[in-house]
Amino acid sequence: MKIKTENSAKKKTSLLCGFVLEGSNKVLGLPKFDTKTTASINQTIKDMEGKLGKINIIPLPGKNPVQRIILAGLGKKENLTKDTIRFVSGKIAQKARELKLKEFSIISPPSFVNEPISSISQIIEGTKMALYKFDKFKAEKADTSPDLRIIVSKSNKITKAIRASEIIADGAIFTKSIANLPPNECTPTTLANFAKTISQKNKMKCKIISEPELKKKGFGGISAVGQGSKNQPKLIILEHNHGSKNEKPIVLVGKAVTFDTGGISLKPGAAMDEMKFDKCGGCTVLGIMKAVSELKLPINVIGIIPSVENMPDGESYRPGDIIKLYSGKTAEILNTDAEGRLILADALSYGEKNYSPKAIIDFATLTGACIVALGTNVAAIVSNDEKLKKKINDSSKRTTEEVWELPLNQDYMDMIKSDVADMKNVGIGRAAGTITAAAFLKNAIEKTPWIHFDIAGVAWTQGATKEKSYNPKGATGFGVRLILDYLQNL
Ligand code: BES
Ligand code: MN
Ligand code: ZN
Repeated sequence: MKIKTENSAKKKTSLLCGFVLEGSNKVLGLPKFDTKTTASINQTIKDMEGKLGKINIIPLPGKNPVQRIILAGLGKKENLTKDTIRFVSGKIAQKARELKLKEFSIISPPSFVNEPISSISQIIEGTKMALYKFDKFKAEKADTSPDLRIIVSKSNKITKAIRASEIIADGAIFTKSIANLPPNECTPTTLANFAKTISQKNKMKCKIISEPELKKKGFGGISAVGQGSKNQPKLIILEHNHGSKNEKPIVLVGKAVTFDTGGISLKPGAAMDEMKFDKCGGCTVLGIMKAVSELKLPINVIGIIPSVENMPDGESYRPGDIIKLYSGKTAEILNTDAEGRLILADALSYGEKNYSPKAIIDFATLTGACIVALGTNVAAIVSNDEKLKKKINDSSKRTTEEVWELPLNQDYMDMIKSDVADMKNVGIGRAAGTITAAAFLKNAIEKTPWIHFDIAGVAWTQGATKEKSYNPKGATGFGVRLILDYLQNL
């Protein structure tokens, strides 16, 4: 899908889309057409009333350079969110593809509706992400994506914003496309190879640590969880060093369990296939690193992805085992299905010790309890730093990737104390499962500002997921847009 801008809405196009606010009798930014066309436009506005998500097609007669007009309802102006133009644009793009068009045009709404650069980025993110389809393993592929023309007065600022939005949307799409891969086609080695490929394309440093080196260097969590699978564990490290030499980096960590059976504490069969999405945190970090390097952001960012497959086997780690983590602390294993915190703890400690970062941000499909607490449209965050939390909340508001904070005080830390080791890898019964998992992670960090995202509910579409054009079935790429916004505003 190519994206261009055009000053005039009267240029040749197979489809011209204009937005209509509820209660208004105007199409935002639409130029004057002949009387007949104007009459049918007005009638259509009356019929649809600008209701949110409604789209109506008006075919135009033969000689007109514009072949069809689509009116797209935005709902009431006071109810507009940062997301409205994004998911309505996504719907238009899907319509254009359904009509098998080669290109389509969207009139960017005037500035009283939305700040122009925001509108542009929402149109681009919405259309690109809505047109992504996971069809790698189907004989029948999705039709080719139509090109997009945005009607807006051109400027250098707009051109730059378009390029940036394309890179950001492509980052999220990259995350979706690898997160959707089935577990037989995506092992820790496969993820390491993706990391190598994006690092070579965009001149990042890439380091992969494998067995037996992992064990030798003290990554006891990654080694233990990985030892039950013939698909060997990998620790993937990407470095984007575009800031000054002595500037501390931001470290991003992502859980990448390519398949989580639960191990010896085997999960029940129902919906176990969804545990291919247990690598989503790592895929989010890969998508962010790809975009960071393409945007050439003038900062230092490190991506660390511990990747394993959690399998039951004669060589698997067991309940009762006591392992030593990279931090030097010991952990009593009481449930091999609480594996994410073990591999993350190693990666978090490694990130803090080796990079002395400004901040550490981690992403993980860590707990089923998170879905119970917040559902499937909001991620849980847990943090040890007010300033970092504030910045993340601001980025969350701008990108509409929603987060909600859970508390983490000493009482929760006490819930993971073990009789026989420094910690145990589960809390007390099912109480506060998301927080006790975060408590385990907090023990891996000594002093660095840190924020943890539990994306178990939001990383892929589930039963209760709110339908959005730009999040078709499967992985959502949650977090990519949010963190890129944060990094761009540092
Ligand atoms: N990957 C799962 C968490 C998960 C489950 C995410 C379902 C999304 C949907 C994680 O490794 C896990 O199994 N956690 C356990 C922890 C428990 C054993 C303390 C859980 O949530 O049940
Ligand atoms: Mn598990
Ligand atoms: Zn897991």
